[in-house]
Amino acid sequence: MAKEVIIALDFPGKKETLDFLDKFDGRKPFVKIGMELFYAEGPDIVRDIKKRGHRIFLDLKLHDIPNTVKSAMKVLAGLGVDMTNVHVAGTKMMMQWALEGLNAGTDSKNVPMLIGVTQLTSTDQKRMNEEILIPGDINDVVVNYALTAKNAGLAGVVCSPLEAGAIKQTCGEDFVTVTPGIRFGGAMICDQSRITTPAKAAKIGSDYIVMGRPITQAQDPVSAYDRAMNEFLTGK
Ligand code: C5P
Repeated sequence: MAKEVIIALDFPGKKETLDFLDKFDGRKPFVKIGMELFYAEGPDIVRDIKKRGHRIFLDLKLHDIPNTVKSAMKVLAGLGVDMTNVHVAGTKMMMQWALEGLNAGTDSKNVPMLIGVTQLTSTDQKRMNEEILIPGDINDVVVNYALTAKNAGLAGVVCSPLEAGAIKQTCGEDFVTVTPGIRFGGAMICDQSRITTPAKAAKIGSDYIVMGRPITQAQDPVSAYDRAMNEFLTGK
């Protein structure tokens, strides 16, 4: 499976985003458009970035009743995104209806990869047990969520890099793991909890790592991206 770094374009608007992408001088990294940019600029930002030749992970983490998610997914598939996601907590039925929406929204060759969000990487064991009231060990919960996503027909999950190995063991090597919560060795953690480095993520079993601030806020974002790709691909 292709290993790749996905850059999280967590910018407030189109100008900052395109200025950032221009720094890559014609190279086309795989990018993630999240809530901030999508809500600020609307679907046109997806079309603009697609036209520039980037592959896009549209990270809107849908979680609603199955019919609403299905209708929304039909619209998102029509934008030509390559990957998008829903919360596994929305249930198997919601995930199945999401897939139906994606299939209805585009031709069979261009159906976006659907990925389930397990537990956010900012959620730790204590918060999950005491605030969301899910008992048990967070690793077991995440692996169970991954299995539910697989049984619903999803291609993979978003999870912490620390859980990617256990998910592969339970759901199979072909089940895709997309992992945010990545920091270079010795860097600031900010609001993330379950984190690791690009090299360790590769060794544990991540297929795609998502990196935002360590690349977007770097003095030299292109070098930071190259460093991430190199560490992730070589495991060193
Ligand atoms: O800046 P940083 O590298 O922490 O950005 C991580 C990105 O991955 C953010 O865009 C965040 O929304 C996203 N994400 C996450 N945890 C998840 C799913 C997505 O951090 N479980």
